[in-house]
Amino acid sequence: MSGRRSIENLALVGFMGCGKSSVGRLAAKDLGFEFVDSDALVEERAGIPISEIFATEGEAAFRRLERETLAELETRTGQVIATGGGAIVDPENLASLKRHALVVCLWAGAEAIHERTKHQSHRPLLQGDDPLGTIRRLLAEREPVYKQADVIINTELRPQREVVLQVRLQFEESRKRVSASFTSSGPSGS
Ligand code: S3P
Repeated sequence: MSGRRSIENLALVGFMGCGKSSVGRLAAKDLGFEFVDSDALVEERAGIPISEIFATEGEAAFRRLERETLAELETRTGQVIATGGGAIVDPENLASLKRHALVVCLWAGAEAIHERTKHQSHRPLLQGDDPLGTIRRLLAEREPVYKQADVIINTELRPQREVVLQVRLQFEESRKRVSASFTSSGPSGS
């Protein structure tokens, strides 16, 4: 990681059902940060739920709102940002997050994600006849993107409280490393 990188915020990325919002809320509390859910901001801006945006205006319209919302968060500090599962498929969104945040990916396998999401109905992409097949396909497509996060934490291996702790420790360590490297090289890197 470059010493010049600014880590003002913590961004959680990863597939639907990996716990970004619940882990994010708890991590924000621990860090004394504001919790921001990009999906909720998109819904606020559109005035309708995400499922309705998909149904009436299509996925492309949702992605446009998502990109605008994430871009606006760049100027703010002290936030834990839970992103939507498809947000960093757009490389500009990942680049934007990496300009101001440590990007932590929460990971789980397809079967575990299916177990966690199968009784929920608010995710338009998982409402088809074969949600497990969709999860497997999208997860395989997105895996190379999720691997570009700064840190990947497997949420299947530990209870949620421990995931939160890992997220917080990684964040604090990264901030220390960045500020140590900033101090040793000077603000201009000279
Ligand atoms: C999506 C994930 C959802 C939401 C939208 C699309 C995706 O967010 O942004 O339904 O493409 O994976 P969560 O990951 O919070 O469910």
